[in-house]
Amino acid sequence: MPEPTPTLLSPIERGLNERLICLHDEIKGHHVLRGVNRIAVTLYDERSDILKSFAHSSDGECPFSHLTQRMSDQPVLRQLARTGARRVINDIASTAGRASGHGSLLLASGYLSSYTVPVQHKGTLYGFLFFNSFRAGFFSTRVIQRLRPYAEAIALMVMRELDTVRMMTAAVKVIRQVSSARDEETASHLARMARYAQLIASKLAAGKGLADEFVEFVFQFCPLHDVGKVAVPDSILLKPGNLTDEEVAIMRTHVTSGVKIVDMMIRDFGICSLPHSQMLRNIVGFHHEAIDGSGYPYGLKGLEIPFEARIAAVADVFDALTSKRPYKDAWSNERALDLLRREAGRKLDADCVAIMLENVPAIEDIQSRFGDSATD
Ligand SMILES: [Fe+2]
Ligand SMILES: [Fe+2]
Repeated sequence: MPEPTPTLLSPIERGLNERLICLHDEIKGHHVLRGVNRIAVTLYDERSDILKSFAHSSDGECPFSHLTQRMSDQPVLRQLARTGARRVINDIASTAGRASGHGSLLLASGYLSSYTVPVQHKGTLYGFLFFNSFRAGFFSTRVIQRLRPYAEAIALMVMRELDTVRMMTAAVKVIRQVSSARDEETASHLARMARYAQLIASKLAAGKGLADEFVEFVFQFCPLHDVGKVAVPDSILLKPGNLTDEEVAIMRTHVTSGVKIVDMMIRDFGICSLPHSQMLRNIVGFHHEAIDGSGYPYGLKGLEIPFEARIAAVADVFDALTSKRPYKDAWSNERALDLLRREAGRKLDADCVAIMLENVPAIEDIQSRFGDSATD
């Protein structure tokens, strides 16, 4: 079994975004569709009622990078989701005032018309596709007819990519259900931790030139960080009180066991081509590394640790501190953030810690939505 290598991944390599750009080029090669100047994909997270920008190909500026918003604040999209209908706006300028800021952002980037398609299958809403044009009145019946097969292809691409990840997450959930790892790493811990990681990733992505797709997969993969704990004996995993040195060493093997499990899943699900599988390996393999090199199992330092693993570490440590565990009570946010502040730049990534310190209301919102009664 190959060991995880400390590779800094290229997160958007051959991801959905790149495929979307290729498809956009093909669409523009069609004389009727030459005026499609932007295609964007927004995903929907049902559990938190959040819509988030995911991938785009834009001829002009992209008005919606790193954007998240509540679906409940978007009555028109909610209605499209409910009815499966598609929406054409052929003159954004005349509707911009009513379009909750979206229309104005589109106009500011020069887009004058739009066509919106919900992506849903068997009652599950995956998100929305947005097509925009610099020309007002572009989305005629003829254009929409020609666009339909492309819209379906993009929707399939999105669903296929998300289903692969969901399949892996479901498999891990099953493994977890039959092991004691579920008691230590509860569903609510995983739900909160993934959202802290999403918060950090979304705030830092733009500055690091990372796409929305990076943020989304950090969110999707973080709950798998401790999958290797299913291989740790119950007597150690659930021991109240301190572990002996030997027990600590066994506990630490959850990292390498986790990478082995991930590699098996990637092979057995036939998804080695999943562009982000390296990101998953990095989160599982490096989430216990520390900035000063004192972490395990490799003792990597600073930027040697992949960014997604540095994010996962901060999110995981914060939620572990603020959760009750067999060996400790839950800490207050204040006390946990204080520890994060002290460890910033030492054990934990300083930029990631700064985002947590600056976003206490968002942290509290996550905690109130995904309290200890959360199930998955
Ligand atoms: Fe871990
Ligand atoms: Fe954890």
